[in-house]
Amino acid sequence: MNFDEIVANRRSIRSYNPEKKVSKEQIFEIIKTAQEAPSWKNSQTGRYYVVMNDNKLKEVREALHPQNQIVTKDVNALIITTFVKNRSGFDKNGTPDNELGNGWGCYDLGLQNAYLCLKACQMGIDSIILGLRDADKLRDVLDIPETQEVVAVIALGYRNIDDVKMPPRKEISEIVKLYE
Ligand SMILES: Cc1cc2nc3c(=O)[nH]c(=O)nc-3n(C[C@H](O)[C@H](O)[C@H](O)COP(=O)(O)O)c2cc1C
Repeated sequence: MNFDEIVANRRSIRSYNPEKKVSKEQIFEIIKTAQEAPSWKNSQTGRYYVVMNDNKLKEVREALHPQNQIVTKDVNALIITTFVKNRSGFDKNGTPDNELGNGWGCYDLGLQNAYLCLKACQMGIDSIILGLRDADKLRDVLDIPETQEVVAVIALGYRNIDDVKMPPRKEISEIVKLYE
């Protein structure tokens, strides 16, 4: 698949094949690509908690919105993504470089996660990013330190459905203001 095909094929998938499992090796390859994303002063503050164990998967699922629990019921891999606070967007003394503060850490993580989902897609693996989750519960279950902000959960697996349509996008004119 070329880049445009990967972009066109990546969709948020909400029904997974329980028979097809993602391997640890595949997940590490995907995260290695995510790491190649740019980050503020190369601070690389994104962190990944990869959950593949049945008991932990159950606990993580329980921290998701009920609808997201249904979406993820057949996946064998959930990745909880966090970033280390007060580094990306900050100087060495811990002073924010501008008004966005930790918004930059979230920005960097989002970039990494876009790479992650696109790399997974190139490998034939489907994904969905889940923002409706209980961060405190996830922190407890995975022992995530307070120095990190819990952001999204990403499910990886193989789709159980064909013909997934792209939800409509806005017109380019609605999102671009051109000065020429
Ligand atoms: C930050 C973020 C949070 C999201 N949270 C959820 C979620 O909690 N549950 C869900 O079903 N989809 C979630 N999505 C998926 C979006 O609904 C989806 O990306 C959007 O509808 C566009 O569809 P597409 O990804 O197939 O292009 C989230 C996506 C992003 C980027």
